[in-house]
This record gives sequence, C-alpha cells and structure tokens, in this order.
Amino acid sequence: PVQVKKICCIGAGYVGGPTCAVIALKCPHIQVTIVDLNQARVDAWNSPDYALPIYEPGLEDVVRQCRGRNLFFSTDVDKGILEADLIFVSVNTPTKKSGVGAGFAADLNYVESATRRIAAVATSNKIVVEKSTVPCRTAESMRTILEANSRTGTRFDILSNPEFLAEGTAITDLFKPDRVLIGSLQTPEGKAACQSLSDVYANWVPKERILTVGLWSSELSKLAANAMLAQRISSINALSAICEATGANIDEVAHAVGFDSRIGPKFLRASVGFGGSCFQKDILNLVYLSESLHLPQVAAYWRQVVEMNEYQKSRFSKTVVDTLFNTITGKHIAVLGFAFKADTGDTRESPAISLIRDFLLERAYVTLYDPQVEESQIWLDLSEALPTMPLETIKKQVNIVHSALEACKQKEAVVIATEWKEFKEIDWQAVYQNMSKPAFVFDGRMIIDADELRKIGFTVKVIGRGERV
Ligand code: NAD
Ligand code: UDX
Repeated sequence: PVQVKKICCIGAGYVGGPTCAVIALKCPHIQVTIVDLNQARVDAWNSPDYALPIYEPGLEDVVRQCRGRNLFFSTDVDKGILEADLIFVSVNTPTKKSGVGAGFAADLNYVESATRRIAAVATSNKIVVEKSTVPCRTAESMRTILEANSRTGTRFDILSNPEFLAEGTAITDLFKPDRVLIGSLQTPEGKAACQSLSDVYANWVPKERILTVGLWSSELSKLAANAMLAQRISSINALSAICEATGANIDEVAHAVGFDSRIGPKFLRASVGFGGSCFQKDILNLVYLSESLHLPQVAAYWRQVVEMNEYQKSRFSKTVVDTLFNTITGKHIAVLGFAFKADTGDTRESPAISLIRDFLLERAYVTLYDPQVEESQIWLDLSEALPTMPLETIKKQVNIVHSALEACKQKEAVVIATEWKEFKEIDWQAVYQNMSKPAFVFDGRMIIDADELRKIGFTVKVIGRGERV
C-alpha cells in the first residue's frame, strides 16, 4: 500500500473542514490541504482571528494547532489535486430541486464536477475517497468518469469512507468515532488502497473500530444508519402524540422502553421534529433508490419516517394555535432557537423554520432569538420557506433580538424550538412578569420544568406530556 503523505480534501464545509482538520492534528507527518471554490468560506477558514465559517465546539482549538503547520485552506483546487496522494471528495449532495427525481434523488452534480476536475488535473496515481453521502453505486460512476478522462498511465483507486459525525459534537465524534467505515473493491489494488486510508486513521482510531467492507455496502451503510436513526425519532414522536392524547408521559415511556438493552436509551428524545441537512435528504435518497430498484413497498416504508416528521412539526404549530384560543392572528410570539439542534449555527431543515412559517401564515408576529445563527441566514431561510411572501412583509412580522429575555418581553406565548443550554437556565419568574397574560410556554424540546412554570402562573404545553391525570 501507498504511504499517504499528502491529502487534499475537496469541500471545506461542515464535514470536510472538521474531518480533515482532525486528520491534520492526529497525523502531523501528513500535509492536509482543504480546497473549496467558495472564496468567502476559504477566507473565513484562513481568517487571522479564527472567525471560522462554521461553529463547532472544539474546532477552533484544532485549527489553531495545525493551520499553517500541516493544515492549509485554499481555493486552488487544481494544485491541491496535483500534489495529493489521497483526495477526499466532501462536497454537498443536496436533494434535487428539479428534473428527474426532483424532491427525492441526490443532486450529484457537485460530486461529478469534482471528479471530472480530478481526472483533468491529475498527473500521478491517486486514491479518491468518496466522503460525501451518495446513493449506492456512485463510486462506479466516479470510476467510469475518472478512467474515461484521465491521462494514460494514471491510476485511480476509489474508496467509500462515509462520515458519521453529528454537528455540535463533530470534534469529539472525530476524536473517538464509534467506527470508521471504509469500502473498497475486493481486488488486490482496492484492498491496498483501503489499507493506505486505514493506516491514516490508525494514527488515533483503535484498529478494531476501523471496519473494511465492500464499496456498495459502505455506501449503503451510511444511508441505512441515518434512516434508522431518524426512524427512532419518528417512532418516539409518533408515540408522543399518543402520550398527549392519553395522559402518558413520553419521557417515562422512552425511559422504560430504552431500558431494554436490545433497544437502548439513546436517540429517543421526543421533539418538535428532526432537522439537519442529513436525515431527510438521506431518507429521500433511500426512497428514490428503492423506487428505482422497483421496490415500492420498501420506498413507502422509509418515506413514512419523513412523513411522520412533517406531521410532528405541523402538529406542534397546531397545538400553539389551538391553545391560544384558536387564533394567533395579530398575536406576539417569542421563538427561542433557530438552529436545528443545540451547539451549532446550522439551520438546514431546522424545524424552527417550519414553525415560524406556520405562525407567519397565520399572521402572527414573531420575535426570535438564537445564540449562534446569523441574522442574514434567518432572512434567507424564511424567504425560502415563504416564496409567496415578499421579504419586506416577512421583516414586518419578524423581529430578531439578542437575548431570550428580550424576546419574551410583552409576548403572549414563548415557543422553545432548539434545546440550547441557556434556555434551560432562563429566569422564568422574570419572564412571566413581563409577559401578556395569560402567559403560555410551548416546549418543543422537553427542557423546562413544567410544574415549576405552572406554579409561577404559566400555561404550559410540553411535547409528549398528556394533560389528563
Ligand atoms: P457543505 O455544503 O457544508 O460543504 C460542501 C462544500 O463543497 C461547499 O463549501 C462547496 O462550496 C464545496 N464544493 C462544492 N462543489 C465543489 C467543487 N466542485 N470543488 C470545490 N469545492 C466544491 O456540506 P457538508 O455539510 O459538509 O456535507 C458534505 C457531504 O457530507 C454531503 O454529502 C453530506 O450529506 C455529507 N455529510 C454531512 C454531515 C453533516 O453533519 N453536515 C454528516 C455526514 C455526512
Ligand atoms: C446526523 C447523524 O447523527 C450523524 O451520524 C450523521 O453523520 C449526520 O446526520 P446531525 O444531523 O448533525 O447528525 O445531528 P443529530 O444529533 O443526529 O440530530 C438530528 C436531528 O434530530 C436534530 O434536529 C435533533 O434535535 C433531532 N433529535 C436527535 C431528536 O429530535 N431526538 C433525538 O433523540 C435525537
């Protein structure tokens, strides 16, 4: 196997950035260059005051240790490709918005452009690693493109190495991964390439956690893992609706169910719905794949996980409207949190977007606070969610403020959309004094002490808590 000395990562996003920064930290003998076409993003990675383009606990510390030593960020994609022995392709693979498979299939345009660039530029042998999440058998298309466009004598070995990090915990996930998965062709060359990448991870990951499998299994495992994780959330959220209707408590149900060692306690937190750039996209991708393989029952099974999530989000909006005497027109609502989960500034598919859209369509006024999300991002997301509402109208109905306390002032209701730690420490007594009465709190993340708030005087609704005693 080739001993990897130089790595290039194409795509300096949520995955490429943290993943390759950690490789640089753990492998000081390897030079790592992360390249991206987006100048602003690369500039942010290179900014002298470490104003990095993504917020991720622990990331800045890693970048501080390696940047300029063996970690570089650049827009010179060609140079990165030319110099590297191993290239990660870590570009975005969003859901297609138009054309065949629109709304389901993954848009592989970015993967293909990156692959074509590698073929056009490379003058020596490369190990090309699919890091992006892609449909099963994408590696085959990549190989065809590389082989059809390369110089004679240049060899490409393709590996699949999907990433399992979660945002908000990316650095700890990368330091101590449950597993690293590497898929390769089962040929001698494929296995040798697999060994080369495995040796990189072996610098800090115990050998028994580095799993090597066939290419197609590796690609499918990534979709499978996300589908099964999201399925757990949809299962618990479906049960949360039953809890609310019966007087059962979803915390107690999840606890009791999760105590079964075959089920396990993790990832059973009922919520206003899952968000993030991966779950919905990857399940829809799996649905599309199943349909293309003429497996309609399999497609319908997975599609239901996404449908349950849509239902959960709209069910929560409806609870707000119903509880506020069946109308929120002209009412003032505070929304706490806009990120799709705590400890990230990422808003992709955030359930907060759907909630606020629903509130605006009911012509309510929304005051919003999130500790990390940029204001410009909020306007972008809301305009996209409300294509028929001009931005000026949205801005008349939405106010962005800089603290939770300020957001709640003089409002009729507070809606918790993200489980930021600081929302667990709110001085509810102070909030209550400054709210219109009756004062309502809707907790979409199960972070408040409902009994305590009721004592203060609030009317409280928590996801998954029945009212009937
Ligand atoms: P992202 O949008 O944050 O980053 C992708 C980057 O690739 C962008 O900065 C874009 O400018 C760049 N890019 C696109 N085409 C390029 C090209 N031809 N040359 C150079 N740069 C190019 O996306 P992300 O969240 O990092 O996700 C990347 C992949 O990893 C996706 O397939 C995603 O499904 C997968 N993934 C994401 C996560 C996550 O938590 N975000 C976790 C696991 C896997
Ligand atoms: C997910 C996968 O966890 C990760 O392995 C994969 O690489 C990328 O997709 P991510 O989307 O970053 O990671 O975060 P995750 O922690 O999985 O949360 C996704 C969504 O589910 C969030 O909106 C979160 O709030 C929600 N969630 C999670 C719940 O509602 N309940 C839970 O019990 C867990």
